[in-house]
Amino acid sequence: MRISALAPVLLCAAALVLSFLCLFAGSKRGFMNDYSILTLNTSRIGASFLNAAHSSSNPLISFIDNATNSVENAINQDVSSVARTLGIHDFYNVHVLDFCEGYYNPGPVPNTTLPRSQIHRNVTSCSNRTAMYSFDPRTTLQQELNVSGHSNVALSDLNWPSNVDKGLHALVIAQKATFVLYCVAIALIGVAMLLALAGLVVEGRLVAFVNVLVDWLAFLVIGLASAIATAVAVKAVDVINTYGNQIGAQASTGSKFLVLTWVATAVMLVASIVWCFECLVGRKGTGYRSKEVYEPQY
Ligand SMILES: *[C@@H]1O[C@H](CO)[C@@H](O)[C@H](O)[C@H]1NC(C)=O
Ligand SMILES: *[C@@H]1O[C@H](CO)[C@@H](O)[C@H](O)[C@H]1NC(C)=O
Ligand SMILES: *[C@@H]1O[C@H](CO)[C@@H](O)[C@H](O)[C@H]1NC(C)=O
Ligand SMILES: *[C@@H]1O[C@H](CO)[C@@H](O)[C@H](O)[C@H]1NC(C)=O
Ligand SMILES: *[C@@H]1O[C@H](CO)[C@@H](O)[C@H](O)[C@H]1NC(C)=O
Ligand SMILES: *[C@@H]1O[C@H](CO)[C@@H](O)[C@H](O)[C@H]1NC(C)=O
Repeated sequence: MRISALAPVLLCAAALVLSFLCLFAGSKRGFMNDYSILTLNTSRIGASFLNAAHSSSNPLISFIDNATNSVENAINQDVSSVARTLGIHDFYNVHVLDFCEGYYNPGPVPNTTLPRSQIHRNVTSCSNRTAMYSFDPRTTLQQELNVSGHSNVALSDLNWPSNVDKGLHALVIAQKATFVLYCVAIALIGVAMLLALAGLVVEGRLVAFVNVLVDWLAFLVIGLASAIATAVAVKAVDVINTYGNQIGAQASTGSKFLVLTWVATAVMLVASIVWCFECLVGRKGTGYRSKEVYEPQY
């Protein structure tokens, strides 16, 4: 019985749970909704548009004119209500398997009486879980316009920038790869945990060596998944903030998710280091034993 192998068993179990949480966070309403890869904030999407465009040839303008009596009224009112009337939500949380949408509570924009820290995201619904999911805000927002009965309003009427679509389109493969890598990482960490359990009962350097290999591989894959997820988050947020700024769309990376995935990576690194150590100590142990065996013969 190798008691010291208990540490890698626990570390692998922790990494397994953490990577499962990375994969399934936000996969339904009420389950770790704060752990998004990134959040798209569309709460002010109507505001700059209303300020810029007053041409009534735009079907959206005539709709808003109708709904609020005048565009000027809409500008003076809480403008996020314009987006809400159109069926568009305040924010979209992007996860590995889906996206969740909802409204900022009590309001989307911080002011003197409402500090940013008191604004929380109230998720109202999530999309279906999809393997190899990739976020496509244009389709999502257009669907919401259609569902709320404004299919005559195209997202381009809201001046939605096509550069955002182009930038996000370039990330589709990376986003799908993230899903695949999390699945592979979960499988490898599972194998690593079984091998660590085997290492509890089977002594010897070979078991320790196999454990080092599998743990190291699992560490590389979960590390790669974390790196690509981080790159997707940073790049997508950059694209949205660069091109979406003009229409009041904003994005931010999900720091909680990034912490979660990098902690899982670090835990696997520690597990492989522990096995490395075990390998070296194992060698020393056999060395001493053979000395004890041979010494009396002199
Ligand atoms: C304005 O509202 C009226 C009644 O609510 C409706 O009949 C009309 O179609 C609306 N016009 C537009 C452009 O939405
Ligand atoms: C701050 O925002 C909240 C929510 O949108 C609103 O109810 C409140 O009146 C605002 N306060 C000021 C001073 O504008
Ligand atoms: C949402 O975006 C608007 C406009 O860019 C910004 O003023 C507001 O502070 C953002 N709200 C949150 C909660 O991030
Ligand atoms: C979230 O929104 C729902 C209705 O959409 C409301 O009933 C609920 O109280 C809100 N939750 C919070 C924490 O504000
Ligand atoms: C989500 O799944 C449900 C049931 O499986 C299905 O009825 C619905 O059409 C799906 N929605 C989308 C947007 O695919
Ligand atoms: C929205 O409705 C328009 C016209 O009815 C249709 O052409 C388009 O495909 C719909 N878009 C989505 C995303 O459902």
